[in-house]
Amino acid sequence: MSYLAHRISLIKPSPTLAITGNASKRKAAGEDIIILAAGEPDFDTPDFIKKAATMAMDQGLTKYTAVDGMPALKKAVQQKFLEDNGLSYDLSEILVGVGGKQVIFNALLATCEEGDEVLIPAPYWVSYPDIVKLCGATPVFIDCAEKDRFKLTPDALQKALTPKTKWLILNSPSNPTGSVYTREELQALGEVLKNHDCLILSDDIYEYLTYEGTFTNLPMACPELKNRTLVVNGVSKAYAMTGWRIGYGAGPKELIAAMTMLQSQSTSNACSIAQAAAITALTSPRDFLSEWCQSFIERRDFCVEKLNGIKGLSCLKAEGAFYLYINCAGLLGVTMPNGSVITTDTDVASYLLESCGVAVVPGSAFGLSPYFRISYATSLEELDKACTRIQKAIEALN
Ligand SMILES: Cc1ncc(COP(=O)(O)O)c(C=O)c1O
Repeated sequence: MSYLAHRISLIKPSPTLAITGNASKRKAAGEDIIILAAGEPDFDTPDFIKKAATMAMDQGLTKYTAVDGMPALKKAVQQKFLEDNGLSYDLSEILVGVGGKQVIFNALLATCEEGDEVLIPAPYWVSYPDIVKLCGATPVFIDCAEKDRFKLTPDALQKALTPKTKWLILNSPSNPTGSVYTREELQALGEVLKNHDCLILSDDIYEYLTYEGTFTNLPMACPELKNRTLVVNGVSKAYAMTGWRIGYGAGPKELIAAMTMLQSQSTSNACSIAQAAAITALTSPRDFLSEWCQSFIERRDFCVEKLNGIKGLSCLKAEGAFYLYINCAGLLGVTMPNGSVITTDTDVASYLLESCGVAVVPGSAFGLSPYFRISYATSLEELDKACTRIQKAIEALN
């Protein structure tokens, strides 16, 4: 008999972390593998941020901090929301956690009960459904078509809302599609949400990596929904600080208080040294970002052109983040050199890994098939090599 709790049987390891982990192990063992599966920038954390961490250690900032974050970091977060988003929050409406992931986990654990439904537009970030299940609620997926740039439409939202709906999760720029909601699109969703008393989670973790149009989130577009929206953000993606584990959330005071209480009984505060570094990150000029964004745009454009030139594949030009969600419907039914037939996007991903050493993540992991996701957060040289390998591998199919 297994001694593991039932809730463990409800979830699986994060597919993106699993694929990246396996591919990294094989690469370390000497296999020639290009990993396009990782969800992090290839840039290093800027030096001025690292220096702030060293200084924090020298100054003895090595002890517990307030559970919900150092006051100076919460003030920096407050200022960020005001300056970038025009959103005003009291410090009691802000929480700092161990990455955006913990903030989301805290929020769902603090609110979800058996029978609650959480609406998740698909394709989605791989962790949302499993966090929802761990918190005892039911994820309800809303398929978002490629013709709508994989974005939720007011009509689809209206159909999915029920009296059991506890949360709607929105993520823009999106992982895995790179799509960005416009103000008008959010206002149209807001019109539907006004008539339904649910919470809204706005996952803005890729905010600064918006290349087309301007970034807008739901409370910016619909101020009347701010009092039931939790905005989640963090330093992981924009500052290349994925390993430092600092995320933050802003929302209704009662929710933030419950999330803080939960955090006080789990991790306590996020790492004090990483918090000090995050203060410097949030309060310094972001000059380096324009260069990074330019580089991401160049890589995106390169991959979009190359991949759209391969028979059987097509992809939209992503508007943000560093992913492309590639349609591989044209490969289904095709026979591989070993005689077996490709029937799913998981087959496509396995074929690419085994035949040409390119690691990608199948669309099944993100809830919408047949697609696969690549991350273009790697050098142009690597991307060129990877695209050429993909092209040759696909040409070898019947
Ligand atoms: C959409 C989305 N939200 C949240 C996160 C979590 O980020 P963090 O590293 O801050 O926990 C990620 C990380 O991949 C993500 O892609």
